[in-house]
Amino acid sequence: MTEFEPKIVAFLCNWCAYRGADLAGTSRFHYPPNLRVIRLMCSGSIDVVYVLKALLDGADGVLIGGCHPGNCHYQNGNYKAMRRVQVLKNVLRQVGIDEDRVWLRWIDASEGKLFSETVAQMVAELRAKGPGSMRTSWQLWQETAGCQLSGTEARSSK
Ligand code: FES
Repeated sequence: MTEFEPKIVAFLCNWCAYRGADLAGTSRFHYPPNLRVIRLMCSGSIDVVYVLKALLDGADGVLIGGCHPGNCHYQNGNYKAMRRVQVLKNVLRQVGIDEDRVWLRWIDASEGKLFSETVAQMVAELRAKGPGSMRTSWQLWQETAGCQLSGTEARSSK
């Protein structure tokens, strides 16, 4: 039997986490290839909609990487990211979705090793958790409630 391989979408700040990922590559720190990276200018550019869309589209986890507190190149973007992620996690918890599939980590441009270790740890934890449920829940909702709603619309238009 093949081991479950989680898909991770990573939103990385251009100035720190993205460069940390680059350094991990040039330093030959190995990490699992489960990541698809989206570069943001700052972690403060993260919108909870991006994270939800990634989870709904089948990501098993989302990693948001930014500069350490105090090092944001746009002064306080990482604090904004921290608040948004906290709100998102509260919402996920309230609707019964595993909030620990969303990670926010501070990784500096000089921390290639930390980047590779973070990815390896996230992949290991997601393998243990198994596939994310949001995509299947969303499909199920569309097939059931979504159909009922479209049926209601069809009836009301007659
Ligand atoms: S520039 Fe990196 S978190 Fe803002």
